[in-house]
Amino acid sequence: MFKENTISKHYTHGSLLDSIRAGIERLGKTPDTVGVEDLGPVDEFHIGGREASESFLDRLQLSPDDHVLDVGCGIGGTSRFVAYRYGSRVTGIDLTSEYIETGRVMCSWLGLEHLVVLEQGSAGAMPYSDGTFNTAYMMHVGMNIADKHLLTSELYRVLKTGARLAVYDVMRVGGGELTFPVPWASTAQTSFVATPGEYRNALELSGFRVVAERNRRDFALNFFARLQAKAATADSPPPLGLHIFMGNTAPLKIKNMIENISENRVAPVEIIAEKLS
Ligand SMILES: C[S@@+](CC[C@H](N)C(=O)[O-])C[C@H]1O[C@@H](n2cnc3c(N)ncnc32)[C@H](O)[C@@H]1O
Repeated sequence: MFKENTISKHYTHGSLLDSIRAGIERLGKTPDTVGVEDLGPVDEFHIGGREASESFLDRLQLSPDDHVLDVGCGIGGTSRFVAYRYGSRVTGIDLTSEYIETGRVMCSWLGLEHLVVLEQGSAGAMPYSDGTFNTAYMMHVGMNIADKHLLTSELYRVLKTGARLAVYDVMRVGGGELTFPVPWASTAQTSFVATPGEYRNALELSGFRVVAERNRRDFALNFFARLQAKAATADSPPPLGLHIFMGNTAPLKIKNMIENISENRVAPVEIIAEKLS
């Protein structure tokens, strides 16, 4: 519990909704006119942003018949995108109250409250009945969760038999100390980066079958190179972007992230698994 409080404190901004509103104004829009596509740069708090989400989610063949769980949904940006793009019903759960409160308001701006429900809670003890969802995904969340087996067992419990689980996390791929701060942790105390093998073991121990794995290192480095090239020619940060979450520490966290990936200490990796009967 102590660690979870420390983690939600790490993510709490204090005036996130106001900062996003200000960004929208700089775009020349209002909460009534802003769309899912406009919000993309602030709605996806993971390496590769919406581009990564599209490629990741397209592998899940989602449809309006699906009830999808977004674990560690942040402000629910990916949840809104799933509802908008695939018409699925989405439930998002996240530890950080401010993210859930902000995300609910943003869902109302887009008229998506009927498809997207956001709730505060922990991935380790989710308030859902057994077999509730037919798909679940988790993007850049496992790095904050020490007990991967508790996490995968809880995911197994809330999924229906035959359901798919997709994970897109920063994982350990080599040795060497990580340089901190990084976007998910200020120090090593709240960073629980694990290897793809450790994820696979936890998944299989819980009853999942791993069906695919994809290392996104090259995509990530290319994404950061494009981001840096854009930043080099701009006078100020764009109206909406991940700097809104991370404030003054954003440049350092992103620099360290790039170093950790370039030095082959970590990489963003996707794993897709299926719940066996
Ligand atoms: C880097 S953000 C990613 C947010 C979102 N998945 C996205 O990609 O935009 C990590 C999120 O995980 C959440 N988180 C961390 N540990 C969690 C836990 N045990 N249960 C639920 N959410 C958690 C944090 O509150 C934060 O919103």
